[in-house]
Amino acid sequence: MRWLITGAGGMLGRDLQTVLHGQNVVAATRAELDVRDPDAVRDAVDGADVVINAAAWTDVDGAETSEEAATAINGHGARNLALAAGKRLIHVSTDYVFDGTATTPIPEDARRAPLNAYGRGKAVGEEAVLAAGGSVVRTAWLYGEHGPNFVRTMLRLAATRDTLDVVDDQEGPPTWSYALAQQLVALGRSSAAPGIYHGTAAGSTTWCGLARAVFAEAGLDPSRVRATTSDRFVRPARRPSYSVLSHARWAGSGVAPLRDWRSMLTQAMPVLRP
Ligand SMILES: NC(=O)c1ccc[n+]([C@@H]2O[C@H](COP(=O)([O-])OP(=O)(O)OC[C@H]3O[C@@H](n4cnc5c(N)ncnc54)[C@H](OP(=O)(O)O)[C@@H]3O)[C@@H](O)[C@H]2O)c1
Repeated sequence: MRWLITGAGGMLGRDLQTVLHGQNVVAATRAELDVRDPDAVRDAVDGADVVINAAAWTDVDGAETSEEAATAINGHGARNLALAAGKRLIHVSTDYVFDGTATTPIPEDARRAPLNAYGRGKAVGEEAVLAAGGSVVRTAWLYGEHGPNFVRTMLRLAATRDTLDVVDDQEGPPTWSYALAQQLVALGRSSAAPGIYHGTAAGSTTWCGLARAVFAEAGLDPSRVRATTSDRFVRPARRPSYSVLSHARWAGSGVAPLRDWRSMLTQAMPVLRP
């Protein structure tokens, strides 16, 4: 089985490389394959049995002032891959295609309603991938060993600050990128029907809840993390307040949904500590 990973130098891309170590894999970093280039994409996809697209513009706030550039990667880049790979493509997307007004886990077929430019570009990509018969795996609140992320930031700040104020009014499923990488590879090996799947941990918490869990895991006092509200941290891009995604579609796919976020964090901690 031949695999192609795009965006292989990113946080998820590097974990995909670890999971697929020893297999027949082409792991293409941005320098090796720019997904905006349709000819290069066609050549790279040629001969691959499974293509996992981990390439993305992930600067959510930056996308507000550079929507065209973000969509060139997240929308049109995904379309280039979809046209070349069709049902062989597994494309990674985001909870930010939703507006966060739901109050129960969001089903795979819920209507997209992005609140920000990044989400709009990712929605363009999803539509192209699904139209070409590929699969979309939406994830959210990713953290991992490689690259900056919330969990590592909390560990770093814990060393220099007595207390931290962290927002407690956004709810989501903290998800370890390595666990997601394992699930994406399992999906690639399976005979699951193409379409939309949700690659997020089970359960949910707030950013404040996650920060307190990180402190507890590190043997620190969780009460050093104080709850605050999003209006104290106004950022250029609006964020959904509810990002909990349903996992119903994994049933019968032959691929397991991800385990709960809290035990996942415990398992991830050894590779996250600075
Ligand atoms: N991180 C999260 O919390 C989160 C949440 C929801 C969904 N997601 C999705 O999960 C996926 C993986 O995210 P991540 O956290 O691993 O992001 P990441 O660390 O930023 O990795 C993205 C990779 O894509 C590369 N890239 C950018 N433009 C490219 C292009 N034109 N052609 C090829 N590669 C390009 C980047 O290279 P450079 O670094 O050289 O630019 C980087 O290596 C993305 O689809 C993202 O939208 C992430």
